[in-house]
Amino acid sequence: MIRKRIVQLVGLAVILGAASLSSSTVPLPQLGDPLPNLSASELTRFTAGLAVFSRDFTPEDGLGPHFNNTSCAQCHEAPVVGGTGENEGDVDIERHATAGDQPSCNELAASGGPVFRQQTTGPALLPIPADFTVNVGIRSTPALFGFGLVEAIPEASILSNVGRRGGRAAVLADGRIGRFGRKATDADLVTFVTGAFDKEQGVIVPDELSSADRDLTVDFIRFLAPPPPPEYHPIGQAVFLSIGCAECHTPKFVTRSTLSPALNGRAVYLFSDLLLHDLGPGLADLCKGVAGRAEFRTEPLMGLRTRSRFLHDGRALTIESAIAQHGGQAEDVTAAFFALSNLQRAALMRFLKGL
Ligand code: HEC
Ligand code: HEC
Repeated sequence: MIRKRIVQLVGLAVILGAASLSSSTVPLPQLGDPLPNLSASELTRFTAGLAVFSRDFTPEDGLGPHFNNTSCAQCHEAPVVGGTGENEGDVDIERHATAGDQPSCNELAASGGPVFRQQTTGPALLPIPADFTVNVGIRSTPALFGFGLVEAIPEASILSNVGRRGGRAAVLADGRIGRFGRKATDADLVTFVTGAFDKEQGVIVPDELSSADRDLTVDFIRFLAPPPPPEYHPIGQAVFLSIGCAECHTPKFVTRSTLSPALNGRAVYLFSDLLLHDLGPGLADLCKGVAGRAEFRTEPLMGLRTRSRFLHDGRALTIESAIAQHGGQAEDVTAAFFALSNLQRAALMRFLKGL
C-alpha cells in the first residue's frame, strides 16, 4: 500500500506539483463544507450566506413576477447545496436566447432576454421571439464548489495561456476578463450573483433584497471548499497530458487574494484555462457576452466525479460522449482520444472519473 501511495505521489507531483499534499494532516473538507482556515467571522458569513442561498422566496418578499425557481439551492442542489442541478422535473434547466452573432450579438433585452424565465406569479410569461435570427440554448446547472478560489486566480495567469489551441480571453467592456458563466460573461461573483437573483428569482438587489444579504450569498460561494482532491492515476494523467486535453483543461492555478488569507496562495485544481474556445458547429448555440455562437469557456473538470450530465446543456450522458462531441479547436485531440489503445483509454477514464 505504501508503495502504491508513493507511485501515486510521484504521479501527482509530475502533473500537479506536490505542494498541496504535504498539508493534508488536517481532515480535508468534504463537498459543501467551508474552506479550511476561515476566521470565526468568515465562518459566520458562510453559514449566514448558505441561509440566503437556500431561502425560498415568495411573491411577498420579491419573487417574480417572472422567475425560474424559488431559491438558488433549488437548482444548485446535488449532491449537496452549492452543487449541480438534479433535473428532477423542476426547472434546473434554463432557456437562453439571443439573436445574430458577434460582433453584433443582440441579447434581446427588449423582449425579456437573454434568460427566458419559465415560471410566473401571475402575469403571462414572455415568449422567445419567433424570428429566424434567434438562437435558443439550453443550460444545465453547474456546481459552485471552490468558486471563491476560481475568482482569486490572477488575470495574468489566465492571460498566460491565451493563444494556446486558439483560446482567447473574454475581455469585457470594462477591460476585465470574464470567467463565470459558460460564455464567460462575468468577471466576479458579486456581478454574477446580483444577476442570478434577478434572472433566476426575479429578485432585484437592493430593492427586494439588501446588498448586505447579497454579499452574504457571495461569501457562501466564495468560502465553499473545492471538492476533496482527486484520486491520482498516473497513467491516466499522462494520457490526459500527452493527447492535448490539458492544453485547454489547465490542471492547476495558484490564487492571489487580498480578501482573505483562506483564498490567498492556494492551489486550485481547476482543469480549465478559463478561456473561450471554438468547439465547432456541433456544440454551437447562441452568442452571449463577448462569446460567439461556437465559443464556450473551457468547462472546469474540477468535481467531474459529482456530475452525471455533461456539456453546457447536459446533452452528454457519459464522459466519452462529451469528449466525442469536441470539434473545432479540439478536433485533433478528439481524434487522438479515439486512437488510444483500450488500456490507455481505460486509464484516462479512471483519471477523469476521479476528478
Ligand atoms: C433555475 C436554476 C438556477 C437557479 C435558481 C440559480 N442558478 Fe446559478 N446557474 C444556473 C445555470 C443554468 C447556470 C449556468 C448559466 C450560464 O452558464 O450561462 C448557473 C451558473 C451560476 C454561476 C456561475 C457558475 C460557473 O460555472 O461559472 C454562479 C456563481 C451561480 N449560478 C450562482 C447562483 C446564485 C447565487 C443563485 C441564486 C441567486 C443561483 N445561481 C440560482 C441555474 C440556476
Ligand atoms: C480546444 C480546447 C479543448 C480541448 C483540447 C479539450 N477540451 Fe474538453 N472542453 C472544452 C470546452 C470549451 C468545454 C465546454 C463545452 C460545452 O460545455 O459545450 C469542454 C468540456 C469538456 C467536458 C464536459 C464537462 C462538463 O461537466 O460538462 C469534458 C468531460 C471534457 N471537456 C473533457 C476533455 C478531455 C478528456 C479532453 C482530451 C481528450 C478535452 N476535454 C479536450 C475545451 C477543450
